[in-house]
Amino acid sequence: MALLDNLKWRYATKAYDSTKKVDQTDINKIIEAARLAPTSSGLQQFRVIDISDQELKEKIVPIAMDQHNIAQCSHLLVFVAWDKYTEERIDNIYNYITDQRGLPRGRFNSYTNKLKALYLKQTPEENFAHTARQAYIGLGIALAQAAELKVDSTPMEGFDNDALDELLDLRSKGLRSVVLMAIGYRDTANDWLASMKKVRVPKENFDIECK
Ligand SMILES: Cc1cc2nc3c(=O)[nH]c(=O)nc-3n(C[C@H](O)[C@H](O)[C@H](O)COP(=O)(O)O)c2cc1C
Repeated sequence: MALLDNLKWRYATKAYDSTKKVDQTDINKIIEAARLAPTSSGLQQFRVIDISDQELKEKIVPIAMDQHNIAQCSHLLVFVAWDKYTEERIDNIYNYITDQRGLPRGRFNSYTNKLKALYLKQTPEENFAHTARQAYIGLGIALAQAAELKVDSTPMEGFDNDALDELLDLRSKGLRSVVLMAIGYRDTANDWLASMKKVRVPKENFDIECK
């Protein structure tokens, strides 16, 4: 029950106590949870950038709809994903997988050829729509891990992706920003949401039974 209790405890924190920093050990566990996330075909199409530099966090506030909790939080994780699929990216990860498992390279060629046939004919935008979805799986697991550590967090889509890509020089690395996760400790006195009830649709409307 601990996970469910912690998921009930967490909320999208609107104000952080900027005097409280999250221990790097906990940040590393949150990032590790994202690294362990499942991804489509195991391609691990996303990465996480850990920002704790105050100046850089402050630069992100105006391109994130003036969400000041970005400046207040202890760390800001930026989930970024491959801008597109390439033959090299697919081969690199599968070579790594076979090497790690002590298998001959090419062991999964029939599978990777199917992936290449599927993805390489798509537009980069279609590719990115798929790689970005993998980043959201990582975000979900990272949010759960933060809750398990009783560390507060905020998932955030409210930002100008192009401006952030430019600020962090992501495009030159073949990456694009997807979603943010602010991490820190809540400032209960100044957070309008801290004392409010968590609201979700009733279970009977959520769990749809097919008969
Ligand atoms: C993908 C995603 C993007 C979100 N973007 C923002 C955001 O930019 N700013 C914000 O304050 N909350 C953001 N939220 C938080 C949601 O509004 C919040 O999770 C939802 O209302 C449920 O409330 P709870 O997380 O407090 O339980 C986002 C949540 C998700 C999952």
